Amino acid sequence: MNLTRRQLMQGASALALLPTAVRSAASSDVLEARIGEIQLVDGDFPMTKVWGFNGGVPGPEIRVAQGARVQRRLVNSLPQATAVHWHGLRIDNKMDGVPGLTQEVVPIGQDFDYDFTPPDAGTFWYHAHNQSTEQVARGLFGVLIVEEDQPPEVDLDLTVVVDDWRLTPETQINDGFDQAHDWTHAGRLGNFIKGWAAPDVAGVMKNQRLRLRLINVATARVMPLRLTGLSGRIVAVDGMPLLQPVPAQDLVLAPAQRMDLIVDVTGDVGSSVLVEMGHAKEWYALKDFKITGSASNSKRGPIQALPSNPIKRLRDVSGAQSVALKMEGGAMGGLRQGIYQGRLMDTAKLVDNGQIWTFNGVAGMTDAPLAEIAKGETLRIPIENDTAFPHAMHLHGNHFQEVMPDGSFGPLRDTLLVERGETREIAFVAENPGDWLFHCHMLSHQAAGMRTWVKVSA
Ligand code: C2O
Ligand code: CU
Repeated sequence: MNLTRRQLMQGASALALLPTAVRSAASSDVLEARIGEIQLVDGDFPMTKVWGFNGGVPGPEIRVAQGARVQRRLVNSLPQATAVHWHGLRIDNKMDGVPGLTQEVVPIGQDFDYDFTPPDAGTFWYHAHNQSTEQVARGLFGVLIVEEDQPPEVDLDLTVVVDDWRLTPETQINDGFDQAHDWTHAGRLGNFIKGWAAPDVAGVMKNQRLRLRLINVATARVMPLRLTGLSGRIVAVDGMPLLQPVPAQDLVLAPAQRMDLIVDVTGDVGSSVLVEMGHAKEWYALKDFKITGSASNSKRGPIQALPSNPIKRLRDVSGAQSVALKMEGGAMGGLRQGIYQGRLMDTAKLVDNGQIWTFNGVAGMTDAPLAEIAKGETLRIPIENDTAFPHAMHLHGNHFQEVMPDGSFGPLRDTLLVERGETREIAFVAENPGDWLFHCHMLSHQAAGMRTWVKVSA
């Protein structure tokens, strides 16, 4: 039954009369993890059964002003225990959503109140953090945007979430989440890529200026991206403004990474703006927007840097504590080195448990942290990738910078792609006390051993 317009009007005026305290307990504050159904594949295909926040994929967008408090009651209506991680937010450790490290897992039928105030403006996301190889692949993620006090002047603020699904011919999620081949190789790569835009505009106009927020929520796929019909600059990565915006070219988003761009629509009326994923000559459209007309060709100012966030950037790392992280394991060479020659003795049992990747010779969480530092101190972590695959290393609760070979510092990030054979050093000033997970965001690698943690003492 549909509500009549009259009923809606009545509802609206009744709502306006309620005291604010009652209104703020409305269902919009509930994030219910549950089974849902979406039209994932356009056209005549069957609906796809998913797990989503409030039943949708992506889950409801959370958008708040910088400095505003976020309160969400997670209600677990899944057939599995769960928890929510707020990816990239430098919030209170108790709210970080890592079962076994920062909170108890939320059992089936139970709930948990998340309550935090994000300090930084930018493009973030949230996702399930229990059995995430399965839960994120089934759709448990959403966008979280913290708006600047003085946002850049644009005609349209557009978010495009990019994802990778492994579907059966019946367009259902392939439920082989623990296939040894995926775990030992590049992770669970899909056979169907998908982009979602919000707002899902029908078209754009030539000469419009857009803010484009790109988020890769795939569990394993590194996405080289190409933009057609747009030109402009990257203004932020992983939610943190670049000091100097750089031209929008050679875009690569590893799992969990984000990128904010400010771009002008430069394509011709009648053509399309495209966001594509691929490489060389093979490109697949994740999203396209028709250019339906022309906006006035008013002179635009140059693209400015976004206002910076209240975070300490690196200044001097000489003399800082340094703890190396060596990645080993996986298929194709690394396995023998990492496991047969590493400190782990019971190889057969290890592989049986699906623990096939190691950090410093150990698969999975250790009782002692990888490193412990006091608040205000700087920690350096040179990361050596001695495996045959790239890994997207994510540190919870803190942003880091790369220490470049010439001694300069890269942009603030929360997730760094380390290619096979590379050694890349990161460092950060520890500002946020707590126990912070540090893991590969190729989620089957995480499940198969690539996780550790860093302790920041108050
Ligand atoms: Cu986006 Cu530990 O995760
Ligand atoms: Cu990995």
